[in-house]
Amino acid sequence: MSNHSHWKTSTGFILASAGSAIGLGAMWKFPYMAGIYGGGAFLFMFLIFTIFVGLPLLIMEFTVGKMGHTYTTQIYKKLTEKKWLNIIGWNGNLAVFILFGFYSVIGGWIIIYIGNVIIQALSLKSVSLIDIKFEEIISNPWLTVIGQGVFIFLTMIIVMLGVEKGLEKASKIMMPLLFVFLIIIVAKSLTLDGAVDGIRYILQPRVDDISVEGVLFALGQSFFTLSLGTTGMITYASYAPKEMTIKSSAFSIVVMNILISILAGLAIFPALKTFGYHPQEGPGLLFKVLPLVFNQMHFGAIFYFIFLLLFLFAALTSSISLLELNVSNFSKNDNSKRKKVAVIGSIFVFIISIPSTLSFSSLREVIFGAGTIFDNMDFIVSNILMPLGALGTTLVVGQLLDKTLLKENFGKDKFKLFLPWYYLIKFVMPIIIVLVFIVQLI
Ligand code: TRP
Repeated sequence: MSNHSHWKTSTGFILASAGSAIGLGAMWKFPYMAGIYGGGAFLFMFLIFTIFVGLPLLIMEFTVGKMGHTYTTQIYKKLTEKKWLNIIGWNGNLAVFILFGFYSVIGGWIIIYIGNVIIQALSLKSVSLIDIKFEEIISNPWLTVIGQGVFIFLTMIIVMLGVEKGLEKASKIMMPLLFVFLIIIVAKSLTLDGAVDGIRYILQPRVDDISVEGVLFALGQSFFTLSLGTTGMITYASYAPKEMTIKSSAFSIVVMNILISILAGLAIFPALKTFGYHPQEGPGLLFKVLPLVFNQMHFGAIFYFIFLLLFLFAALTSSISLLELNVSNFSKNDNSKRKKVAVIGSIFVFIISIPSTLSFSSLREVIFGAGTIFDNMDFIVSNILMPLGALGTTLVVGQLLDKTLLKENFGKDKFKLFLPWYYLIKFVMPIIIVLVFIVQLI
């Protein structure tokens, strides 16, 4: 068998790439970003970017992966015969590495919350979700470092044992269940005091709330949720069978991400007033508000526990793809090296993730550039490395690759989308990305 492990069917590919895309981005990051950058205005910009920039780029990454069919620090050379272009793959690899470094912080929080509910339940008192105090937990350096270590460890074990396939199968049940849970939370939130204000806040775009920064972060958010520009999606498509359906897969991933983002917004914002929070709470928003919403439900603690497990699952299907990219590149898809590379990669990630965890406790005062160390890591990845990687790939696809070959790999084209897509990638996308960079510099 070739070392480039394949899925036998297109379904495996869809489940894996949807798993990679749907994670903390839509559920945790979207609401807190929207809270800071103008609610409905942010949602509006996010939708525009996701549909008109994210979707074409996702289709592009899938097409490149399918054409190149190898790991991403090699694929650019394979496709263009220009070795130096592999730098785009390395850029993606670096991005994913830093990304895992701060992603694991939030994964760690989920684990600590799960632990908290379990410990409370074991103490045989009735579980009170009000006792889960975000500030107390997050300001405890040891606890958070351990939580994050456990998250990285879980990711590593899954990748080492190669049980991703099992996880993908499980996601057929877990993902719909997550949807159901989000809907339950939304339903509860909508009954709380001040819900109407919250709905208005997140759904109504107000022109005054649009800021240059908000535009930038909205683009970053679409890149983040769709895992774009890191070559992560190229990697998955490169494993997929030739008959995979690029456009419908990309389309369903985009739709799911948008739906989950909106549901997460509708779960959180309507509840803010009741509990005395502001939209600008930052990264802790979801963790502060949701326990309180669940606390208002019958059997809230049990529901919350299940929700946390589903949330953890969604985060893990993303984090395994982060590690998987490193493993794929550093082992050059040689299966005998997988385990070693997974361990070494995880250790490195753990080391760089410590400062990002501590930006909520001991290193809270260290502020520069985009904010704390955590904020800076996120900024470098979402607003610089990901757009840069996407720009590189659009230039390769638009300027260097053969159009006929692209068309072949684009697959069946019932709706005659190839040409509009191709010209969008060739002429429009690079300009949009460069413009956003220029705005950022000014
Ligand atoms: N999209 C993932 C999420 O929303 C995070 C992510 C960003 C990612 N870039 C990636 C995952 C690259 C895998 C590969 O949670």
